[in-house]
Amino acid sequence: MDMLHDQLVNRVELSNISKSFGGVAALKDVTLKALPGEIHALMGENGAGKSTLMKILSGAHQKDGGRIAIDGEEVHIKNTHDSKKLGIGIIYQEFSLVPELSVAENVFLNRLSEHGVWMKWNSLKKEAAELIQSIGFNINPSAKVANLSIAQQQIVEIAKALSEKVKVLILDEPSAVLGPNEVQKLFDILLKLKKEGVTIIYISHHLSEIFQIADRVTVLKDGKSSESLNVAETDRDAIIKLMLGRSLDAMFPPRKPVIGNEVLRVEHIQSDKVKDVSLTVKAGEVLGIAGLVGSGRTEVVRAIFAADKKQKGSVFLHGRKVRLRNPHQAVEKGIGMVPEDRKQQGVILSLSIKQNISLANLAGVTGKLGFIRSNKESAHVQQLIKKLLIKTQHEDIPAGQLSGGNQQKVVLAKWFNRDCHVIIIDEPTRGVDVGAKTEIYNLINELAGRGVAILVISSETAELMGICDRILVMRDGQVHGELEKHEFTEEHILRYAIGADRQPLSTN
Ligand SMILES: Nc1ncnc2c1ncn2[C@@H]1O[C@H](COP(=O)(O)OP(=O)(O)OP(=O)(O)O)[C@@H](O)[C@H]1O
Ligand SMILES: [Mg+2]
Repeated sequence: MDMLHDQLVNRVELSNISKSFGGVAALKDVTLKALPGEIHALMGENGAGKSTLMKILSGAHQKDGGRIAIDGEEVHIKNTHDSKKLGIGIIYQEFSLVPELSVAENVFLNRLSEHGVWMKWNSLKKEAAELIQSIGFNINPSAKVANLSIAQQQIVEIAKALSEKVKVLILDEPSAVLGPNEVQKLFDILLKLKKEGVTIIYISHHLSEIFQIADRVTVLKDGKSSESLNVAETDRDAIIKLMLGRSLDAMFPPRKPVIGNEVLRVEHIQSDKVKDVSLTVKAGEVLGIAGLVGSGRTEVVRAIFAADKKQKGSVFLHGRKVRLRNPHQAVEKGIGMVPEDRKQQGVILSLSIKQNISLANLAGVTGKLGFIRSNKESAHVQQLIKKLLIKTQHEDIPAGQLSGGNQQKVVLAKWFNRDCHVIIIDEPTRGVDVGAKTEIYNLINELAGRGVAILVISSETAELMGICDRILVMRDGQVHGELEKHEFTEEHILRYAIGADRQPLSTN
């Protein structure tokens, strides 16, 4: 491919790009070139500069130095409008949807604002439905975006990006909020676009995805770019080494659980999407909940945490029945929750990293702020920043200036910083780089070692198998399987998740 690469005209050429924020260099002399019809992966640790580089290409940020060429001609991208005109589409890491508008309005938002007139509502809806169906999904075009799950919101983002003809499509961690089925459908779309000659720049922390779909990969480390590698000629270890500057021995730390008495018991809870779920978690135990997107995993923990209304059922802490009317009461009783949707419920962008970590309440859910302040606390915060490899110049800068993955780590740090009897973590390593993942697993281990009962939801089966002592598998709002450690296999979990536990798995 490299010889080929020298002869063809690149669709995208980013050469010697530099960018600083307030005197801190985010990108230093970065170069990335991609051909028409190429899927080019962009990888690197949290805070390496991936999103910044792509925002320069999309016109959301201005470069300080360097050159951008499209199809061999230098271009000057001063704003997002310029990049759109050049046929560059982007799906941002942070969603850009308007929550109060419908799916259809969001999909065609650009068109609506450009024409300045309201299109016919019925034809708009029909077109949106067709577009979403053509990419393999089914979402009601009249639904309000605020009421969709985040996986569905991501699908709307994808449809929106594809509502206009693009030559270059940038996807900034699209798979972070999708389940395996949705990721597969996304890949089908990308391969189709590739055939049509679209250049795709794909950011992800999942190495397996890179090997499945990308032609070449460029790694950013501390704002500098590596040579681009042909994926077929490289391997996981080589990429990890470029990212971290070291190799990674074991992804999952060894676990020697010391399991004590029952801490949390849930009996027959029911809510909107939960039919009848009972479970227990013991002190020092890590219990996993597996299941496909939409199986009710998140809804179960939201019902336990009283973030959603329970229609029936009881929650017991240390054997005593507790009545939790809202998340605030759950927190008071010693239940912590790291929510799936951290953008909206987890981190307060305008507050400093330190303030976020020290927040006494899950403010996004409870609407109440409270602070724990002592010197001891501050030292603890600094320790967490170090432990979780949160990349920042200072703990007092606003969390909004951190990279996406580093914001996730702040939310985790907040809960790791509290004394809880139970911690519920919905997708612990979403958007987190491989090195920091291991640190998060270490922290979960450490918490369990202190006797905390831990409940983890994850779409990554390997992750659940690596960190849990027991796994429940959900389907259609119910628990359909319970696996002890010696029974953990991907296939076993999948069978329960898709309802093939009674008949053999078909091969297609
Ligand atoms: N608006 C901003 N103001 C100040 N600093 C910023 C801003 N945006 C990004 N940065 C800094 O630039 C650096 C690169 O951030 P960027 O978001 O590009 O990282 P990333 O590679 O996308 O990481 P992640 O995998 O966590 O998404 C980080 O140190 C970040 O704190
Ligand atoms: Mg990013």
